[in-house]
Amino acid sequence: MVKRYSIGSVFKSESVIEDIEVSSGLADIFMLDEEKKEVSLKLLDDELVYGLGESVRGINKRGWKYLSNNVDIPIHLEQTMALYGSHNFLLLFGSGRNLGIFIDYPGYLNYDIGFSKRNELTLTFTDLDVDFYIIEEDSALGVVKRFRKLIGKSYEPPLWGLGYSQSRWSYNNEQEVLDLVKTFKENNIPVDAIYLDIDHMERFKDFTVNKQRFPDLKALSNKLKKEENIHLVPAVDACVKVEEGYDVYEEGVKNNYFCKKENGENFLAHVWPGRAHFPDVLNDRARKWFGKQFSKLLEQDVDGFWIDMNEPSIFYTEERVKEIYQKFEEIKDKDLGGGYFAEIQDMVGTVQNRPADYEMFYHETNQGKIRHDKIHNLYGYYLLRGATEHFKEIGRDDILLFGRSSHIGMHRYGGIWTGDNHSWWSHIPLIMHQLVNLNICGFLYVGCDTGGFASDCSQDLLMRWLGISLFTPLFRNHSAIYTRRQEPTAFEDNKSFSDLISLRYAFLPYIYETYKKAVNEDTLYFYPLSFIYDDERSKEVEDQLFVGQSIMITPIYKQNAKGRHVYLPEDMLLLRFRSYDDYDKEEYKAGDYYVSAKENEILVFLRKGHSLALAKPARNTSEVDFNDLKEIKF
Ligand code: GLC
Repeated sequence: MVKRYSIGSVFKSESVIEDIEVSSGLADIFMLDEEKKEVSLKLLDDELVYGLGESVRGINKRGWKYLSNNVDIPIHLEQTMALYGSHNFLLLFGSGRNLGIFIDYPGYLNYDIGFSKRNELTLTFTDLDVDFYIIEEDSALGVVKRFRKLIGKSYEPPLWGLGYSQSRWSYNNEQEVLDLVKTFKENNIPVDAIYLDIDHMERFKDFTVNKQRFPDLKALSNKLKKEENIHLVPAVDACVKVEEGYDVYEEGVKNNYFCKKENGENFLAHVWPGRAHFPDVLNDRARKWFGKQFSKLLEQDVDGFWIDMNEPSIFYTEERVKEIYQKFEEIKDKDLGGGYFAEIQDMVGTVQNRPADYEMFYHETNQGKIRHDKIHNLYGYYLLRGATEHFKEIGRDDILLFGRSSHIGMHRYGGIWTGDNHSWWSHIPLIMHQLVNLNICGFLYVGCDTGGFASDCSQDLLMRWLGISLFTPLFRNHSAIYTRRQEPTAFEDNKSFSDLISLRYAFLPYIYETYKKAVNEDTLYFYPLSFIYDDERSKEVEDQLFVGQSIMITPIYKQNAKGRHVYLPEDMLLLRFRSYDDYDKEEYKAGDYYVSAKENEILVFLRKGHSLALAKPARNTSEVDFNDLKEIKF
């Protein structure tokens, strides 16, 4: 059962696709403090609180505070309150009731989930203009299903989007791409897609191609598709470079498609291309126009995009830099003590993604003119939406699409990757936690930068990372410029990488079916143990996940570990995979175990009465034979 409650005048985010009438009686559910703009609710003893999609910390969010504020943030720590996406859905269960709360609110929103008071949930708004959707069902999964029906079907990628993909900031030119393909072939590493980061563009201008680096992108794209079944996926950023003669810039200016300041000037920020404007994707005309631009790359025969910097990310504004220069001028002859040092440090340190900059520009929406910060968290979602609306219009429903910034609603248009993680062991459990909560919030096409984006990756870290990434629908190895090369071929043990990445293709029929089922039945792709078992221990386990309801994975995420502790709520069959045809089977009774696993071994536990069908190894998804399967039963 879903009920909608409304306070104030709400911006229609179109996150929800059903029309639910407004009910009265909000006070029966929440305590409302209008002055503090706070809404709170009592949590039951030991109640679990899931949700909030991408946010840090465990699957159970209780005991900490979070913030919905889509932000380009390159360090994901336990105290990082906000990441790139806002997913304002909470699921309360495990102590009797099964309650879903969707907070349809596009601005900054603070959550205190049993942090200040163990048994209290408090939401603090900037403006009390919000819609709440309250869902009550018989089970946690029942709540999720009802919620997902409310927000509409999740995005489905083309089949090749479920293969292994290789990325790097950046493969700088055609030759580098061809060399990469050759090395992969020589080392028997299957691959379905290669990503082109911003350096494929001409001076970081969206939808352009640098001719020196990629003299004929269309020919390259076709050659790779035809000869190797490999797809190229270029990056598209949210910012449009200010440059005379650049058609996207000129059309945007001429037709008033960019976000403007109060005085009517186009809002100017500095991002990768230097001075840039942001398309007003909250405006129907501008969104349609920006969506159309994707055809320029489709004409180069690429058929996938990753959308980046769509928070939108702001490196700095000239206004703020001017203030900083002024301050330097003012104090240049003074002793830096007495607070000046701290002041300067603060001004410089907070120049990026500064909240005040997001208050400087406006959107011309069909619900009126709105200052950006009021609807900030919708920007990334609407940008992807514009792309998909265009693909639909031109009859293309086969495009791979995912972005960095997101909001519930965007799950209908594309997937996400979880941004600039690090080559840290702790980022393996982080993605496991994010995956469950993102699935709950509708995002099924999800993955992280396998091996970690920033910092140097080691062979053991990358191999252990496969313990989770072999199963994530989006399976991409991506790493930052200046870091150690991170392709599987960059390390010593190419053979094991080849065997393990090939396993992805053996699992593909299972992955594909599980994904389809999650889309069609509004359920999960990754299940936490607490959704499958009733015992108390299962509520605590957050480092083991079910992929669908048949197999449980137990990735190893500790440096130098030779195995790990595993909790089995029921009897299971352990499949210790080294490759498609090299694996052991061991039966385990329910209980607690320390299970060893060599660096090149992937642990998969199969449930009683279930089966896992494996396809024969293939070099890419199009070669996988879904009819020739080997079935492992328990
Ligand atoms: C951002 C993205 C990252 C990309 C880089 C350069 O940091 O998150 O994936 O490689 O920009 O485009």
